[in-house]
Amino acid sequence: MPKTDWYKDLVFYQIWPRSFCDGDGDGIGDLTGVLGKLDYIRSLGVNALWFSPLYPSPQDDYGYDIADYCAINPEYGTLAQFQEVLEKAHALGMKVIMDLVLNHTSNQHAWFLESLHLDSPKADWYIWRRGTDKKPPNNWTSTFPGPGWEKRERYNADGSVSSDAWYYLHLFAVEQPDLNHDCPALREALKDVQRFWLDMGVDGFREDVITYISKKEGLPNGFPLMPAGRGMEHFSQGPNLRKYLAEYRTVVDEYDAMTVGEAPGMTPQNALRYIDQNAPVLDLMFHFQHMTADCIGLAWVKTRFSLRKLKKVFNAWQQALRGRAWNTLYLENHDQPRVLSRFGCTDTEELRVASGKALAAAYLLQQGTPFIYQGQEIGMTNLPPLALEEYPDVVTHNTYDLFRSLGFSHKRTMAHAAYAARDNARSPVQWSSAPNAGFTTAEKPWFMVNPNYKTINVANALADPNGLPQWYKQVLALRSVRTLFRDGTYRDLCPRSQTLYMYTRELPGEQSCLVVISFSKKVTQIQLPKAIAARGVQLVLDSTNNAVDATAPPTHERNLTLKPYQVQVYFYQ
Ligand code: NOJ
Repeated sequence: MPKTDWYKDLVFYQIWPRSFCDGDGDGIGDLTGVLGKLDYIRSLGVNALWFSPLYPSPQDDYGYDIADYCAINPEYGTLAQFQEVLEKAHALGMKVIMDLVLNHTSNQHAWFLESLHLDSPKADWYIWRRGTDKKPPNNWTSTFPGPGWEKRERYNADGSVSSDAWYYLHLFAVEQPDLNHDCPALREALKDVQRFWLDMGVDGFREDVITYISKKEGLPNGFPLMPAGRGMEHFSQGPNLRKYLAEYRTVVDEYDAMTVGEAPGMTPQNALRYIDQNAPVLDLMFHFQHMTADCIGLAWVKTRFSLRKLKKVFNAWQQALRGRAWNTLYLENHDQPRVLSRFGCTDTEELRVASGKALAAAYLLQQGTPFIYQGQEIGMTNLPPLALEEYPDVVTHNTYDLFRSLGFSHKRTMAHAAYAARDNARSPVQWSSAPNAGFTTAEKPWFMVNPNYKTINVANALADPNGLPQWYKQVLALRSVRTLFRDGTYRDLCPRSQTLYMYTRELPGEQSCLVVISFSKKVTQIQLPKAIAARGVQLVLDSTNNAVDATAPPTHERNLTLKPYQVQVYFYQ
């Protein structure tokens, strides 16, 4: 089947199943819960779903530690229930992609257990090396701070314990051994996994840390001063990455399916090595550069939010990929603290909603395929500060240990955690002001509900005609009816401003669009560019009033007074 670029017309909604909606009352989100909410998701103007891992898993990394690639976690439901969700989503006009973790499995996966036996055909399916009793094979560390190698007994053909000091590599949690993609039989097995889901009818995959699957031969030591993810220069975008991706792509191509690869550390120039439309091995890539607009590298190393920094990254990607590859557009996912608590403003309820609308307009009207994370559309915020033991995520704990070992006090480290913990994105979706935010009928959900749920919830937000979901619907509706937003050029008109984001989309033969967004907490006066105002501008969306009269005649007025975080979207000839 010929490869088409239908992924360019999608708008994704990401479901992190454990916290989305509990349908069977056990306190854990599940597929019954999802089924009941598909109409709601579709009503936002979304036409694709990305499921974070639904597979059986001991949940050491909440599903990213897969114990069986071809089944559904019983806590979430059954394969039959997944098929029902898939069919209903398709019937509603939504594509569905699965999260596929190819870099590693759970240490409970049957493959890993078999690889403990030195005579097993799967003995080299993982990255096993000999060390000494006290010393691992090299100095690599996990990207989840902590050691990168774990010592583990392996067995000889006669069942006796091998006398060698065997270690396996884990670039993530200790329970997540890395797979050895250099082994052809493993690659075949992973292709079968892809076929399993594609045969069932899924439309593609989000490929977890896919840029880490090829490690440099000989596993040389990494740069010694790197505290976490040491060795990255040898395992990120390794020597055979393109080759292996090309091989995996032959499978998805047979089904006209799509792939979006997660790519930490990716620059636009390097991305083109994988997603250039002339020789793609992936359709899309998630990079992380814009998520450093408030930090150095990671949200744990916080700086003040800089709109200029954010726009610089947006602009670089829009320019570099134009006509050559396709962008992903996102501000949130299950690994990022809530964006409103980072790039927005939560000082008052009014500013929360206003800045939520500003952030939505800042990314949804760019060129690319947008992704919305569950709860983002109602402006969910970070959790209040918790005690260390209240955070479920292994990364929060490992990063805590790292900060303490670097000399940070407990108090200071906990302040960093409150801002940066991934747990912030993983509290249950707030559906209503009912107990536990209507997420579950159980007495206790698996993880705490944000105490602000009585104010911030889907029911309240939907009841407000000027609410956030209504704004998402309007912006997405505007986007979907104009080829301008798919194909038009993008230009940032004031890249240096720290309080104003103003960009255009233009396409010959169509009306152009000017997006004006204040990122200020104060009322501001601005001027529209002379050349655009001269052509006459017509207001089509205004975040302070979701019911704009789009039939009003164009004006030539240049002076504009913007309320805090106000958005105005104009068309011009
Ligand atoms: C990236 C995923 O998004 C994250 O949640 C996970 O912990 C790591 N990869 C390891 O699979």
